[in-house]
Amino acid sequence: MKLIYSTFFLAVATLNAQPWPQVPGYDDMKVPADNPMTAGKVELGRLLYYDKRLSGDGSRACYTCHLKEKGLTDGEPVAIGAYNAKLTRSAPTMWNIGYYPALYWDGRAPSLERQVLGAWSGGNMGATGANGRPSVDAKVAELNKIAGYQPYFQKAFKKDAITKEDAAAALAAFMRTIVSVDSPWVKFRQGDKKAFSKEAQRGWAIFDQKAKCTGCHDGRLLTDMQFHNVGIGMDAATPDMGRFVVTKDEKDKGAFKTPTLLEIANSAPYFHNGSAKTLEEAVDVMLGGGKKNQWLDTTNLKEVKLTPKEKRSLLAFLRSLTVNYTITEPTLPQ
Ligand code: HEC
Ligand code: HEC
Repeated sequence: MKLIYSTFFLAVATLNAQPWPQVPGYDDMKVPADNPMTAGKVELGRLLYYDKRLSGDGSRACYTCHLKEKGLTDGEPVAIGAYNAKLTRSAPTMWNIGYYPALYWDGRAPSLERQVLGAWSGGNMGATGANGRPSVDAKVAELNKIAGYQPYFQKAFKKDAITKEDAAAALAAFMRTIVSVDSPWVKFRQGDKKAFSKEAQRGWAIFDQKAKCTGCHDGRLLTDMQFHNVGIGMDAATPDMGRFVVTKDEKDKGAFKTPTLLEIANSAPYFHNGSAKTLEEAVDVMLGGGKKNQWLDTTNLKEVKLTPKEKRSLLAFLRSLTVNYTITEPTLPQ
C-alpha cells in the first residue's frame, strides 16, 4: 500500500513538473492559472510573434523590435512603430520575460497577456482603430480568414476562429519559452568557473563586490525586477517620469525597471531612452553613480572609481553574458 501510494504521488509530481524551459537554479516561472502552457499555444504564439500582418499597416511584427541579432531588441535608440511612428522608449530584451511580475520599463502591465493587447493596439503595432487605422478586432478578423492558420487555432484552442484574447494568450505562452537555459552565466553560477575567462571572473568580482552592481542587477536574471532612478533622461525639458506615472508615488519619480544584462553586448544603444551608444558609455554612467537629480537612488548606487584594468575586466564580464540559442524564423501560414 505504501509503495502504491508513493508511486501515485510520483506520477502526480511528474505530471505537474514544468516541461517548459526554466532558468537552471532559479525559481519556477509562474504561469497564470487561466493560461496554462500547451504546445499548441506556444506554436501558434511563435507564428504570431513573427507575423507582420498583426500590425496596423502590415509593417511590424513583435520580432521587428525584439530581434534576436540585437539581443532581442531592435537596435534603435527609441523604437519606431507601425506607420513609422517614433516612440518614446527603447525596446527591451525579451530574455526570461515570463519571470517578471510587471512588464514595461515602468511596470504598467501586470501580465504578458495584458501587455500584448497594449502593444497591439498602441503605437508599437499601430492597430489603434482610430484615424482610419484598423483595430485589433479587425486584425484578428483578417487572421481568421487565413486558411493556413486554422489547424493552429484548432490545436491551440479547438476552434476555427480565435479572439484577440486567444491571440494574446498564445503570444504570452510563446514569450514564456524565451528563457536563457544555456548560457556561460548560468554555468558559472552553477559552479563551473571555467565558463568564464580569468578576466571575466575578475570582472564578476568587481561587478559584485567593489562596484556593487548586484545591488540592483542581482541573481540569475541579473535584475531585482524593481524600479530605480539612476537619472537617465532626467535632464530633458519634460522628463519621462517612469514608474511614477503608474504609482503616483513621489519616490518613483524617474524610476525605471532594472534591465537584465544578458546579451548586453548585442543590445546597444542602452537605457530606456537609448541615450548611451556604447556599453562603455552606459557602464561609465553607472560607475559615476548615475546622473544627479533630486530622486536619484543614492542608497543602491554610489560612485565607484576603478583602475583602467579593473574597468576592462568589468567590461569583459559584461561581454561574457551571452546566451546560446537558435531562433529560426517560421514559415508563416498563408
Ligand atoms: C515598434 C517596436 C515594437 C513592436 C513592434 C513591439 N514592441 Fe514590444 N516593446 C517595445 C518598446 C519600445 C517597449 C518598452 C515600452 C515601455 O516600456 O513603455 C516594449 C516592451 C515590450 C514588453 C515588456 C518588456 C519588459 O521588459 O517589461 C514585452 C513583453 C513586449 N514588448 C512584447 C511585444 C510583443 C508580444 C509584440 C507584438 C505583439 C511587441 N512587443 C511589439 C517596442 C516594440
Ligand atoms: C540603483 C540600482 C542599480 C545599480 C546599483 C546599478 N544599476 Fe545598472 N541599471 C539600473 C537601472 C534602473 C537601469 C535602467 C535605467 C534607465 O534606462 O532609465 C540600468 C541600466 C544599466 C545598463 C543598460 C542596460 C540596457 O539594457 O539598456 C547597464 C549596461 C548597466 N545598468 C550596468 C550596470 C553596472 C555595470 C553597474 C555597476 C557599476 C550597475 N549597472 C549598477 C539600475 C542599477
